[in-house]
Amino acid sequence: MTVLEAIQRSTGFLARKGVDSPRLQVELLLAHALGVPRLKLYLNFEQKLTGADLESVRELVRRRGNREPLQHIIGSTSFCGFEIKVNRHVLVPRPETEMLAERAWQFLAALNSPPGAALDFGTGSGCLAIALAAQCPGAEVHAADISVEALRVARENAALNNLSDKIQFHSGDGFAALPRDLPFDLIVSNPPYVPSAEIEALAPEVRDHDPHLALDGGADGLDFYRRLSAEAANHLRPAGRIMLESGDGQAEQIRQLFVQHKWVVESVEADYTGRPRILTLRSGRM
Ligand SMILES: C[S@@+](CC[C@H](N)C(=O)[O-])C[C@H]1O[C@@H](n2cnc3c(N)ncnc32)[C@H](O)[C@@H]1O
Repeated sequence: MTVLEAIQRSTGFLARKGVDSPRLQVELLLAHALGVPRLKLYLNFEQKLTGADLESVRELVRRRGNREPLQHIIGSTSFCGFEIKVNRHVLVPRPETEMLAERAWQFLAALNSPPGAALDFGTGSGCLAIALAAQCPGAEVHAADISVEALRVARENAALNNLSDKIQFHSGDGFAALPRDLPFDLIVSNPPYVPSAEIEALAPEVRDHDPHLALDGGADGLDFYRRLSAEAANHLRPAGRIMLESGDGQAEQIRQLFVQHKWVVESVEADYTGRPRILTLRSGRM
């Protein structure tokens, strides 16, 4: 079978299994199996696949047909240009979170003298902390999570990106994970925000493979924001900010929640698809 024939047949298979963008997915899996950049496939459409290559491609496509996420099959994803390993213990970093990372490092970088201190609250794979530590080398970056398995992955990712000595990891429930008297200039978080009852209706890639601890935001999806609006001000320096990602359609409720707790809403920014998703807030206690 040639490269092109394998792409065409596998694309049809994934389409029948309900996988989005099936051709792209097949090309990425095939490139991974052959150890070549995806675009190289286009130069080799007529090349015959060896029996061994065909076997490994079939296995990867079979897994994807069972709705295992592409990133789990490949073992990693790219976040702001950093390689991030993923497995069933961590949320697969999403492209919309890259915007949160960018806003966060812009704020932190502007604090250059003295360099700021930042907390990635619910770090998962460590993607946000890694982006901050890499973009703001002088900053003191902390990352916390309740999941010890997630923290293991986050530490591995810090090492993979040569940032182990730039990030301090903390394990525990919310702010209880952190030492006392550790004030931050920035708290950044992409918290679990899916309403509990909606998890069942999510795509199988998310519902069956992302950890529910990373998804479940309680009855209305806002539990985490409630905790942050009540507790985060105690952990911020006077001119500090909190930057949050919100679920689609939640930004206004979250804004109101924080206003009730005397926060000042600096901005609510839309993601690349035009939906309001990134909130920047400062404590009214300044
Ligand atoms: C939506 S994921 C975000 C992961 C990563 N920051 C990202 O943007 O891809 C939320 C993370 O919060 C963590 N988490 C859930 N409950 C927590 C709690 N009570 N305290 C600290 N972290 C918690 C989960 O384990 C998960 O890693």
